[in-house]
Amino acid sequence: MRNTLFKGTPAKRLRGEVRIPGDKSISHRGIMLGSLAEGTTELSGFLDGADCRSSIACFRSMGIEINQEKDHVVIKGKGLHGLTAPEGILDVGNSGTTTRLISGILAGQNFSSTLNGDASIQKRPMGRIMVPLKEMGAGISSLKDNGCAPLKIEGLRPGDVLRGISYESPVASAQVKSCVLFAGMYADRPTSVTEPTLSRNHTELMASAFGADIKSCDNKCIIQPEPRLLGQKVVIPGDISSAAYFLVAGLICPNADLLIQNVNINPTRAGILKVIEAMGGNLSYENRRTVSGEEVADLHVTSSSLHGTTIEGDIIPALIDELPVIAVMAAFAEGETIIKDAAELKVKESDRIVTVTEGLTAMGADVTPTDDGMIIRGGRMLHSASIKTYMDHRLAMSFAIASLVADGQTTLDHPECVDISYPNFYQTLNQIAEY
Ligand code: S3P
Repeated sequence: MRNTLFKGTPAKRLRGEVRIPGDKSISHRGIMLGSLAEGTTELSGFLDGADCRSSIACFRSMGIEINQEKDHVVIKGKGLHGLTAPEGILDVGNSGTTTRLISGILAGQNFSSTLNGDASIQKRPMGRIMVPLKEMGAGISSLKDNGCAPLKIEGLRPGDVLRGISYESPVASAQVKSCVLFAGMYADRPTSVTEPTLSRNHTELMASAFGADIKSCDNKCIIQPEPRLLGQKVVIPGDISSAAYFLVAGLICPNADLLIQNVNINPTRAGILKVIEAMGGNLSYENRRTVSGEEVADLHVTSSSLHGTTIEGDIIPALIDELPVIAVMAAFAEGETIIKDAAELKVKESDRIVTVTEGLTAMGADVTPTDDGMIIRGGRMLHSASIKTYMDHRLAMSFAIASLVADGQTTLDHPECVDISYPNFYQTLNQIAEY
């Protein structure tokens, strides 16, 4: 089984080409917009991971026919008002993206729904979407009254619509932004979202390609109500958040030379590339192109002598999911790396300030957690450890990469949790690594 695929021992060399699986954020949005569009949507390069399958299951239970064959998905959309009431509770699994984005869509329906997910989802903050949705007139509540899932969303009364709002979001969160924009499709007037810093813009790009009237200027985005969405063919590029593990592996392992193919380098996602540059990593771009409105490139990395840097401010949303593996990279760099303005790490699949610090410390790294990030003093030799993943896929993959350069045999308590975003992660790693 998968557990035995994780070796946990140092690699003598890393060589070859890695084709990165589809972008998780874009895959979710493809399912959602495809379901709300008229006609057929075809997604190729879809991420066949547990999170995206949660989105598929939710829309199937609202009457949408979705056929999935690995990374190829065909959706028979029924238009903006074509969803039907689900029979039971919508199960969002471990997926924060499904939970927050679908809530915006559910708020505009004339049927009520309840959604819930696993233990981690039931701890993640949903007040951040409840506040704007309530302002739009939606009846959304946390059933345990703790601001978390399970969430109940009341159907609109016949003839009622949501109120369009101008929302100033206190957090730079694409999930909050997308939730409000999706609800805005069911509103009586235009809806805008302004963020403190621009977060990933996949919703804006894809909704526009499907026919929505959506305009962005700096950190503000505005959508017109009642768009007519038409089914599209979408080619989903590889996920830079998944590529990040191989980028870091190629930089920190001795004797490494990797070509990481088909990576989405949308600037709202590609902060890690700037950090690699700032840390002195050997990284080059090949075959730059545009695929379904997204910038894509193949990325070439080789073993590097890295040095510390400071990661702060506007770049944080563009690398928030990569910070665990960036912390691993920093532990192998000379000098100090400071990560700040990243308090959002606390509300991810685990509290990543705590869990990354715990794992790196167990491996012998010098890490100090802070209120909004961490300070890593790199350059120590790391050793093997028994790592607690807290079922957080990004923790498991980050420490799998650390184990390639740590002395001895590292273990992960739940290596299989990588299924959330990268089911073939260990197979791919084993193909390029010589242990
Ligand atoms: C995502 C947005 C980010 C990111 C998550 C996926 C998305 O979350 O961490 O993995 O697809 O919109 P936030 O919006 O909470 O920052």
